[in-house]
Amino acid sequence: MNSNADLAALIRNIPDYPKPGIMFRDVSSLLLDAEGYRMTIDRLAALVDPDTQLVAGIEARGFIVASALAYVLGLGQLMLRKPGKLPGEKIGTDYTLEYGTDRIEMHVGHVQPDQKVLLVDDLIATGGTALAGVDLIQQGGGRVEQALFIVDLPDLGGAAKLRAQGVRVASLIG
Ligand code: PRP
Ligand code: HPA
Repeated sequence: MNSNADLAALIRNIPDYPKPGIMFRDVSSLLLDAEGYRMTIDRLAALVDPDTQLVAGIEARGFIVASALAYVLGLGQLMLRKPGKLPGEKIGTDYTLEYGTDRIEMHVGHVQPDQKVLLVDDLIATGGTALAGVDLIQQGGGRVEQALFIVDLPDLGGAAKLRAQGVRVASLIG
């Protein structure tokens, strides 16, 4: 497993999921592979800004990446959750997906003022989810200067939208 092309080969492409015309990149087959998962986290960890203070993962697949990354970096993880899951006082942002709409929420007070937060997800497509994540963390008082993904689908424009917000974006595949 010497290159990111080896990691890309572990991702299944499933046509017409969840809707006709969408080619779904299924990272579950990459995560299933022990060496593939480990290399994915190690290579993402090598890209992280050294002054990062907190890792934010977006439910659900983002947690799988953010948890492992936070652990190896020795940082805490901020959970950006789908609606109705957080017990405490919260703030939220609605957003549009490639195939629907959704909302993410965050506990008030879980980001410190000006804390430098790395945003992490498995994949960026239209960028609706990641932009909502940036908005939420900023609402909470944090700064997002970097976002990392296993897969970028650049034709859908999400990474470009994030960069337009001043966020540095990197991915292993795409
Ligand atoms: C997927 C993926 C990203 C998002 C990318 O999550 O994990 O979070 O879509 O799409 P976008 O760039 O167009 O916003 P999904 O909402 O399917 O949720 P899941 O992680 O719970 O499967
Ligand atoms: N794969 C996984 N998640 C996604 C995709 C995809 O192709 N598009 C939008 N979210």
